[in-house]
Amino acid sequence: MDFAYESLPLFETFQTDRRWPIAPAAPASFTDAVRDFRQFGQPSAELTEGGIPYLINEFWTSGQRQAHSIHEVSYRACFKAQLPAFFIQHLTKPGDAVYDPFMGRGTTPVQAALMGRRPVGNDVNPLSVLLTRPRLTVPSLTEVARRLDQVGWNDADTEDPALLAFYSPQTLRHITALRTWLMERAPIDNTPDPVDDWIRMVAINRLTGHSPGFFSVYTLPPNQAVSAQSQRKINEQRGQTPPDRDVKKIILKKSTSLMSDGPVPRHPAAILTTSPAQATPAIQSASVSLVVTSPPFLDIVQYAEDNWLRSWFAGIDVATVRIAQHRTEMAWQNMVHDTLAELARIVKPGGHVAFEVGEVRGGKVLLERLVWEAAASLPFDRLFVMVNQQAFTKTANCWGVRNNAKGTNTNRIVVLRRRAD
Ligand SMILES: C[S@@+](CC[C@H](N)C(=O)[O-])C[C@H]1O[C@@H](n2cnc3c(N)ncnc32)[C@H](O)[C@@H]1O
Repeated sequence: MDFAYESLPLFETFQTDRRWPIAPAAPASFTDAVRDFRQFGQPSAELTEGGIPYLINEFWTSGQRQAHSIHEVSYRACFKAQLPAFFIQHLTKPGDAVYDPFMGRGTTPVQAALMGRRPVGNDVNPLSVLLTRPRLTVPSLTEVARRLDQVGWNDADTEDPALLAFYSPQTLRHITALRTWLMERAPIDNTPDPVDDWIRMVAINRLTGHSPGFFSVYTLPPNQAVSAQSQRKINEQRGQTPPDRDVKKIILKKSTSLMSDGPVPRHPAAILTTSPAQATPAIQSASVSLVVTSPPFLDIVQYAEDNWLRSWFAGIDVATVRIAQHRTEMAWQNMVHDTLAELARIVKPGGHVAFEVGEVRGGKVLLERLVWEAAASLPFDRLFVMVNQQAFTKTANCWGVRNNAKGTNTNRIVVLRRRAD
């Protein structure tokens, strides 16, 4: 292995007031870039593996600076808010645009708004806009309560009997009434009233889950809805019948919890779109200072299937959502290349891209290498792969070649800087 390993003490990393001084020109070398990034906290290890420089440290922790309660919306393969917060804090200033082309539940744009930056987000699935937009314009709890009082809770149109696997007849009637009411008042392709938009977002998050805080009987977590047939089997195995739930009370309780850390401060107007990340004409060239993103990892997560019930509630036809699955590494790398080419158009010279990838297939596929190679021909300086490692003692495992250890919890982030050419 051709790496130089240096063991350095852990360092206080998440400093509040420090800002990344945007270098006037691209760094002459990796050494310069590392020196710049050391201002954020000294890496506990630096190494070069397969020709790629890695910086390894506990740059942020989940415990440090708890994420704002407004983030508590579940979504498959979402990252923690601490990740975008770290890069936003150090690489941008208030008013700058921060973008995620694969925004999922919207962790990056929501965190950007919390930090007074312009939130810019895209996801090919319109469900992402429904999860993100309401948390950028949060109504008051009183407005939500008043609006819920206006719903005709028993005015349900035809109910889908298959859904009785999840809900009692009365709960299903109330959910269906709310769905119809929202579809009439707040069609998904319009800009709706923020109170209606909020209620839909919360309801989407309470449809199914494993506690009485959800509308359903016990089932899988809310971001992974099983089919009605599988749910009937779960019911049989557990000897359970869906109980009546108070839909309005559950929505209010979750709203209270989401808002418990206080309001989202004023921020520049958001831009949210639903294009493939590779072609986003609604986002202007050279308009973004920082991208923090995490693409789908090969074909690991079935976003459309996992979200079928949420899509039903929102009125999204999943068959029309073009979420591509990339079974081969080459197909995935091509998608990443095309996305980075689009980001080269959108990111300002001197701006950054932090591109997070997960560990897949037991560490046998190192996605960060595929990203590194995909960026080679594009107008980016490839700075390094930053590895945020939760426990220092696991450092020896973190670059993945032998990283089959269960429980090793790392984020690997390819960090790029847009060149001026
Ligand atoms: C790993 S998740 C992102 C999660 C996000 N970081 C968060 O914190 O919620 C990947 C997202 O990419 C979206 N997606 C898949 N293919 C896409 C494409 N070609 N263009 C845009 N979005 C896509 C999926 O719908 C999914 O929401």
